[in-house]
Amino acid sequence: MIIAIDGPSGAGKSTVARALAQRLGYQYVDTGAMYRAVAWKAKRESIGIEDESSLQELASSLRLSFVTEGEKLRFFCDQEEITEAIRTPEISHLASEISKKKGVREALVKKQREMGKEGGMVFEGRDIGTIVFPGADIKFYLTASVEERGRRRFKELLEKGIQVDFYETLREVIERDRNDMTRELSPLKRAGDAIEIDSTHLSIEEVVGEMYRLILEKIGNP
Ligand code: DC
Repeated sequence: MIIAIDGPSGAGKSTVARALAQRLGYQYVDTGAMYRAVAWKAKRESIGIEDESSLQELASSLRLSFVTEGEKLRFFCDQEEITEAIRTPEISHLASEISKKKGVREALVKKQREMGKEGGMVFEGRDIGTIVFPGADIKFYLTASVEERGRRRFKELLEKGIQVDFYETLREVIERDRNDMTRELSPLKRAGDAIEIDSTHLSIEEVVGEMYRLILEKIGNP
């Protein structure tokens, strides 16, 4: 079974997807981390945002792997751990820009479909229910108000020891929403058959509980 969770940044997708996967005994795939990895490596190799063919080559050649360790999901790119390095505001912005490139999207979608072959997975991103797995067994679209998403992102960065200004973070969330929703290729949008959950006033446990209940209701015991 494939479970798709899409939605804007800061809606709580990663936390919820990880907890849901743990509850189901499934694997969790954070597809945003894959776009971030391409951005991180492009920066390190000084590949410019306009150099589409090098970015495409980079995206298809990267060896990406997720390793679950208890509550934590560690992420490796060509055997180097980049779990924390890809979470800076600079990489967030760069990943959003890079995700507009056709070659990059094609390369990463191919990797994602390969990962999903065996099923038993929770995929989280922007285009999972619309493009990557349109036939997913159940699709969720997780949202929250923009202020709440800005607050969550701000808290997350502070907890990681990254010093940021709240209004700057809020601006970044708004800009990324615009970027991700208005891009030409695979823009973020709710799939027609996705179940929308607004997490503004819900705790992580409440969101996960609701998703679990809906999974049982829709497809029975996973
Ligand atoms: O989920 P995230 O914030 O880590 O994602 C980083 C960027 O990657 C996001 O701004 C848009 C892009 N992305 C995408 O285009 N498609 C996905 N499935 C996941 C992320």
